[in-house]
Amino acid sequence: MVVLGFCVALAALAGGGGGAQAAAISRSTYEEEGNSLVQPVYKPLDLGSVKPLGWFKDQLELEAAGLSGNMFDFYRFVHDSSEASPYWFNGLVPLAFGLGDERILGQVKYYLDYILDHQQEDGWIGWETTQATRGLWARCLVLLGLIQYAEADPTQTDRIVDAMHRYVVLAHSMLQNNYTGLLVHGNDTFDTAGFGVGRTHEMHIPLQWLLERYPRNNSEIIWETMELMIEGGVLWGADWRKFWTDEAYPKVLYETTPFNLSWVFIHGVNMAQGLRYPLSLYRNSKDKTLKQQTRKAVDLLAKYHRSLAGTITADEYVSDLNPSRGSELCIAAEVMFSSAYIYQYLGDNDIADWAEQAAFNAFPVSVSGDWWSHQYVQQENQPWSRNLSTDDLWWDVNSYANVFGLEPNYPCCTVNHPQAYPKFLANSFATTSDGKGLAHVFLVPGTAATTLGSDNSVLVSVNTTYPFGHTLTYSISASSPFDFSIRIPTWASTTSRSTIATNSTNSTTGVTSTTSTTLSPDANGLQHVSVPAGTSAATIRLSTAPRVVPRANDTAAIYYGALLYALAIEHDAVAVPPVEYRSGKILPPSTTDPHGHTHDYVLTPKRGSRWNIAIDPTQIRVVRRRRGSGSDAGSSSSFEEHVDDVLEVSNDELENPIWELGAPPVELRVAAVEIDWPIVMDTAADPGTFDVTPKGKPFYARFVPYGSSKLHMALLPVVKLQDVDFDISE
Ligand SMILES: *[C@@H]1O[C@H](CO)[C@@H](O)[C@H](O)[C@H]1NC(C)=O
Ligand SMILES: *[C@@H]1O[C@H](CO)[C@@H](O)[C@H](O)[C@H]1NC(C)=O
Ligand SMILES: *[C@@H]1O[C@H](CO)[C@@H](O)[C@H](O)[C@H]1NC(C)=O
Ligand SMILES: *[C@@H]1O[C@H](CO)[C@@H](O)[C@H](O)[C@H]1NC(C)=O
Ligand SMILES: *[C@@H]1O[C@H](CO)[C@@H](O)[C@H](O)[C@H]1NC(C)=O
Ligand SMILES: *[C@@H]1O[C@H](CO)[C@@H](O)[C@H](O)[C@H]1NC(C)=O
Ligand SMILES: *[C@@H]1O[C@H](CO)[C@@H](O)[C@H](O)[C@H]1NC(C)=O
Ligand SMILES: *[C@@H]1O[C@H](CO)[C@@H](O)[C@H](O)[C@H]1NC(C)=O
Ligand SMILES: *[C@@H]1O[C@H](CO)[C@@H](O)[C@H](O)[C@H]1NC(C)=O
Repeated sequence: MVVLGFCVALAALAGGGGGAQAAAISRSTYEEEGNSLVQPVYKPLDLGSVKPLGWFKDQLELEAAGLSGNMFDFYRFVHDSSEASPYWFNGLVPLAFGLGDERILGQVKYYLDYILDHQQEDGWIGWETTQATRGLWARCLVLLGLIQYAEADPTQTDRIVDAMHRYVVLAHSMLQNNYTGLLVHGNDTFDTAGFGVGRTHEMHIPLQWLLERYPRNNSEIIWETMELMIEGGVLWGADWRKFWTDEAYPKVLYETTPFNLSWVFIHGVNMAQGLRYPLSLYRNSKDKTLKQQTRKAVDLLAKYHRSLAGTITADEYVSDLNPSRGSELCIAAEVMFSSAYIYQYLGDNDIADWAEQAAFNAFPVSVSGDWWSHQYVQQENQPWSRNLSTDDLWWDVNSYANVFGLEPNYPCCTVNHPQAYPKFLANSFATTSDGKGLAHVFLVPGTAATTLGSDNSVLVSVNTTYPFGHTLTYSISASSPFDFSIRIPTWASTTSRSTIATNSTNSTTGVTSTTSTTLSPDANGLQHVSVPAGTSAATIRLSTAPRVVPRANDTAAIYYGALLYALAIEHDAVAVPPVEYRSGKILPPSTTDPHGHTHDYVLTPKRGSRWNIAIDPTQIRVVRRRRGSGSDAGSSSSFEEHVDDVLEVSNDELENPIWELGAPPVELRVAAVEIDWPIVMDTAADPGTFDVTPKGKPFYARFVPYGSSKLHMALLPVVKLQDVDFDISE
């Protein structure tokens, strides 16, 4: 998170002179056009309407029982920091209400009461009393937490809305006074690095919520506050509209690459957040070019910096797609939130796939199965996870960054990662823009309870092991008929092997009828189902096969459904005391778990575990754990070849925790051969940049869901091998 060396120089360049004129943002439209902001195509349900089931519920329970749900009790950055605790609050509110967990609800209620009861006379939320210390940016995260709370618990809505209005009036007067609290003046000590000015649009989501739901004759102030935030950022040189263009966007970035915009644009977490900037402004201005620019931003990232696992390859700053460079965990969390948000406005199916890609690959790979430790930086080719002998590989990440631990490198990820899964759950269902239809967009198991239109009370339950299996079973009850839609991922085949079967009972006659047809998704990838009043059921079966995605210089990665598959590297783990992120000194007990759950880990490949291979992706077999041998993930489990093109996996085949090596029941076997793979800067060299010379006899290598294998190789050199004998017992 902190900015060093060259970046400060860039910041000075952009911050000082970057002074473009503040763009004139029209403020006429709100009053003139009947209080309307641009509405989403798919509107998320109020927090608390979606509850998890199956494996996803297991995940949220692990999250609550792990670091996320316990750091409130001991972690110094939660109780002593005005910038980090808002991150925590923003993530724990949706966890508390998604799960309905009394202990976590107690934590967020305590925090809510504390901050509202201590709101200052002038409206400031937080303990800072001087101009020098009051920065507006981190307050945006408090507001994000507050609006979620107000949605989920109507008994708190009034006091939250009261507090927000008082705060907005203060923020407005600060911003009117030469952008106080946003731009650093004189001796100001908040945000000296410049993160706040790069994230000025973060005020939009909470203030648009306030404007739409509880404007209370304060809409002009709310509106102007949003504009002033943006104007201040523009003056400083942080206008994302100038960055998300073919001309300005850096395709690769090395220390010698000329880049004359601010450093804020090339910082991975900022980029993941900055994706929301044009759209946030679009809601106010209705300027369609901003919507188009959002699509452009998504495409630029996808082409030049999106990682195989769905995050942004950026070790603080983007460079190229070298799978050893890695990516900060916070980026995956922010990508999940941004892609869900963008999908709701653009409705493009590939953007929802992107959210799932990050949720099922980039995010879980960096979090330990039990949710007690995490990495700061994950590498897609990561043969070991330990303190490296050098940090030369990275811009501004230290040699300890790929260690699983409490705060390996900057602690922002410790406090920001909890938001990822709870928000993903909250966004997994959405209503259609007319409010009368419902869509299941992220295909995790759960239950959505809502009222469509004015009085159609609807309950949808989806039972699935997706993405580990490719079938989904819905049970639906509704007081009136409605249009239900299910998002069909772009990778699913729409041949006759992908089907939807529906059952419905005529509420007058009591007669049940069943139909089964080939999937026929609309142009946005939605499969529509006309649901009658009463109860009905539907089953979706998605047909697909493993996919090989080629990358530069004869390298490739392999996907199956929504999962990236990587070479599994069995490892030994040694727990060591967690260290302080800056000094590397062992942390005192005052900030670690009193029950002994916080550790850092050294993960190294087991003896004989190969990581240095090339693959022949024309020879891939799908295998699955033989049913009945599920309880023991170790070497004793036996596998059978899977030949059906629809992957049907039942709940009891999934282990808990699922994101651990051997826990997912479906694996791949890929023809491979050992090679000499150079080590550069104490990690695996960039594949495609060295000669590939096979050694020894080809074999079938074990590939598993990337998120389950903390040590892994996901991008591998491709070679042509003769047919390799397939022996299931290998
Ligand atoms: C506004 O703040 C900027 C940046 O600190 C400063 O250079 C400028 O002089 C201030 N303008 C006024 C009118 O105070
Ligand atoms: C900044 O701090 C210095 C030293 O404490 C003080 O003399 C000066 O007046 C301060 N400037 C402003 C603008 O507050
Ligand atoms: C809203 O504010 C305006 C101007 O301050 C005032 O004239 C008007 O009565 C207020 N309306 C309500 C509903 O409070
Ligand atoms: C900044 O870079 C852009 C794109 O490369 C270029 O068009 C522009 O002239 C540059 N501006 C300056 C001041 O160097
Ligand atoms: C990690 O290794 C670096 C050298 O690369 C060393 O300076 C540092 O002290 C080590 N950190 C820890 C926590 O062991
Ligand atoms: C989901 O399906 C399984 C059978 O695969 C069944 O045992 C379980 O009860 C179902 N759960 C729900 C919540 O419908
Ligand atoms: C239910 O059955 C009645 C009587 O056959 C029929 O009139 C009605 O259209 C049916 N409703 C639906 C939704 O099919
Ligand atoms: C539909 O009804 C048939 C026959 O009763 C049953 O076998 C099937 O499981 C039902 N399908 C769903 C999706 O409920
Ligand atoms: C491809 O290989 C060449 C030669 O080693 C190297 O210079 C180049 O950077 C590689 N390209 C990519 C995209 O990895």
